[in-house]
Amino acid sequence: MSYFSHLYCPKCSETYEKNRPVNLCKCGGPLLASYNLKSAGEFKKEDLKGRPENMWRYREMLPVEDPKNIVSLGEGYTPIFSLKRLGEKLGLENLCCKDEGLNPTGSFKARGAAAGISRIRELGIKEIAMPTAGNAGGAWASFGARAGIKAHIAMPADAPEITKTECAVAGASVYLVNGNIADAGKIIGEGAKKYGWFEVSTLKEPYRIEGKKTMGYEILEQMNWDPPDYIFYPTGGGVGIIGIWKAIKEMEELGWIDGKKKPKMVSVQAEGCAPIVRAYERGESFATEWTEPETIAAGIRVPKALGDFLVLEAIRDSGGTAIAVSDGEIKKAMEETARLEGMFICPEGAANVVALEKLVERGWINTQEKVLLLNTGAGIKYSQTLNYDFPLLEKTDRL
Ligand SMILES: Cc1ncc(COP(=O)(O)O)c(C=O)c1O
Ligand SMILES: [Zn+2]
Repeated sequence: MSYFSHLYCPKCSETYEKNRPVNLCKCGGPLLASYNLKSAGEFKKEDLKGRPENMWRYREMLPVEDPKNIVSLGEGYTPIFSLKRLGEKLGLENLCCKDEGLNPTGSFKARGAAAGISRIRELGIKEIAMPTAGNAGGAWASFGARAGIKAHIAMPADAPEITKTECAVAGASVYLVNGNIADAGKIIGEGAKKYGWFEVSTLKEPYRIEGKKTMGYEILEQMNWDPPDYIFYPTGGGVGIIGIWKAIKEMEELGWIDGKKKPKMVSVQAEGCAPIVRAYERGESFATEWTEPETIAAGIRVPKALGDFLVLEAIRDSGGTAIAVSDGEIKKAMEETARLEGMFICPEGAANVVALEKLVERGWINTQEKVLLLNTGAGIKYSQTLNYDFPLLEKTDRL
């Protein structure tokens, strides 16, 4: 059973009943799911023992009420690997990576799509529409197909090729847009109004974040309820970092962690698109739109996020920080991680590696403490990003 009770607006505190499909609050703010945590006192972490190793093991704290509505492809419970060789190089005693590239559709977007599509099916919605940088589209098209829900997906024409194919092969209508995810979002907004599609853009519906927050539950459970000291997250719309922070607060209320030690949340962006970093450095509560966003890390090319104030809140409340890295550094870090650890991580995940290196150099990281990097997707989805040529790939019949 689920302890989901109602929706609320973190901007103006207005509440909404849970059974009517809704996008944003009247004030324009995003809506979040609230749980009846008094009765959730009966939900103990010991109850998790023996449950299937996927994100639905936390089903009491997820918004789907009838398990029959769950649409799953095995998402979640991804492994946490220690990064011994990379850690040694950086002088860190305890470095690890949660590899979200092992999710169905090759990215952590599967979690948001699983929760979102399941709840949308429960609410009886038949047609959805969204803009995407690529991976979310692939995930929502796939989970949508599995649920029999039609998806309309708009994405930048230069999104990673495989993500376009993923959407098309799963039967979604795909619209390639000359521009970035914000331009794609405008088109989807118009289409949704015109054709009555339900919009599932980042934080324009309350359920995607509920799937993403399971990363927070897993990190704690997999680390035996002893949180890492730092969590690095490549930030676009920011749903992951907001979600993990929400999960940590929920687990504190559930009595699963004492809350004395919380991870410092580190938000990582690209130098060519760093609205959150800029707002953080200026001490602002909201971020202004970034003009002409540009980076090879497609998933974090988000010029303006609806949940910017929640990302900034998570960074500040946790004592974390925000930092930007360059595309050149990202490419080098992809190679370095593959060569030292055998992990072909995505450019967004590699941005974390660069950010960590910089923060170690600055003396911001205590090198004896536990650092967790989230690799949000599989590097193999970005075949164009590291495009090797002669002499590394030499055509030959013999040596
Ligand atoms: C691989 C990858 N990492 C990170 C992100 C950023 O996620 P969010 O928008 O939740 O901040 C995305 C979003 O598309 C992504 O595809
Ligand atoms: Zn509001």
